[in-house]
Amino acid sequence: MIKVDSLRVQYGGFCAVEDISFNVSEQEIFGIIGPNGAGKTSAIECIEGLRKPFSGKISVMGLDPWRERKRLHQVIGVQLQDTVYQDNAKVWEICHLFSALYPHPANYHELLDIMGLTEKKQAFVSTLSGGQKQRLSIVLALIPKPKVVFLDELTTGLDPHARHQMWALLKELRKDGLTIVIVSHFMDEIEAICDTVAVMNSGRMLIRGTVAEVSSRFNLADKISFTAPQLQDGALAGLRHAISVTRDRDVITVLSKDNEGVNEVLSFLKENEIAYSNLTVSRPGLEDVFLKLVEDSKVQEG
Ligand SMILES: Nc1ncnc2c1ncn2[C@@H]1O[C@H](COP(=O)(O)OP(=O)(O)OP(=O)(O)O)[C@@H](O)[C@H]1O
Ligand SMILES: [Mg+2]
Repeated sequence: MIKVDSLRVQYGGFCAVEDISFNVSEQEIFGIIGPNGAGKTSAIECIEGLRKPFSGKISVMGLDPWRERKRLHQVIGVQLQDTVYQDNAKVWEICHLFSALYPHPANYHELLDIMGLTEKKQAFVSTLSGGQKQRLSIVLALIPKPKVVFLDELTTGLDPHARHQMWALLKELRKDGLTIVIVSHFMDEIEAICDTVAVMNSGRMLIRGTVAEVSSRFNLADKISFTAPQLQDGALAGLRHAISVTRDRDVITVLSKDNEGVNEVLSFLKENEIAYSNLTVSRPGLEDVFLKLVEDSKVQEG
């Protein structure tokens, strides 16, 4: 459905996206994650036909997003990271207006109902809460009955219940044939719904693969966390089984590459008579891999 080949985006002399390439298949849910300023929005705006790439080749359902954006916008749905609405418009009016732009629009009453906005049909958009505006932007993205939908920070500002509803809705829509590209800062979201995930940092794509592939990137075995106020900074630097040691106030987190990590940490604490509490051992997830990848790429750049 989507082919991106060596995409580059520049703002003046500044390169925001540098030679990224990837494909998205039909009915795939493709997630892009990365720190603020990584180039995620810049990249997907090019794919949506809203921004002209500096160089590279993009095809969405066989269309060139920039040159054929009119046709493209008949078949895709877009939820922007920041949507600005006319303040003096009512919820139903905006939906009505949007529906008029497409030959076969979805029934917006149904979409409003799914998103819990039925009672707000007569409300002015300016009076909606942050999360309600977010829900409205999702309704608008789905009105074209799109084949591909782009969601930039889909659930930012949504309450936990609404997030779960949203995920369920997306999985339903995918069953009906929808292809979905989402940008997110929530690893639980990516783990819950994405087939494939790409990690971007400083305009580059660091890794791309299935969620399981990316999660297992460093072969992280265990994540050991504990509280130890007396522990000196850097004291655990010599652990042989640790891949990384991080500290957040008194909470130390050790990512270990094999099952010996826990024993090594416990022996160290015992031998050095360091008091500790709240020790937990858990399985590292996508978030740990993400943090490690971004940290490593900073070291490389620096
Ligand atoms: N219109 C613009 N003019 C100049 N620079 C821009 C413009 N838009 C974005 N940038 C810069 O390009 C880089 C990438 O921005 P982009 O919005 O693509 O990041 P992002 O990954 O979506 O970040 P976030 O997670 O904060 O939404 C940033 O350094 C940003 O300051
Ligand atoms: Mg963004």
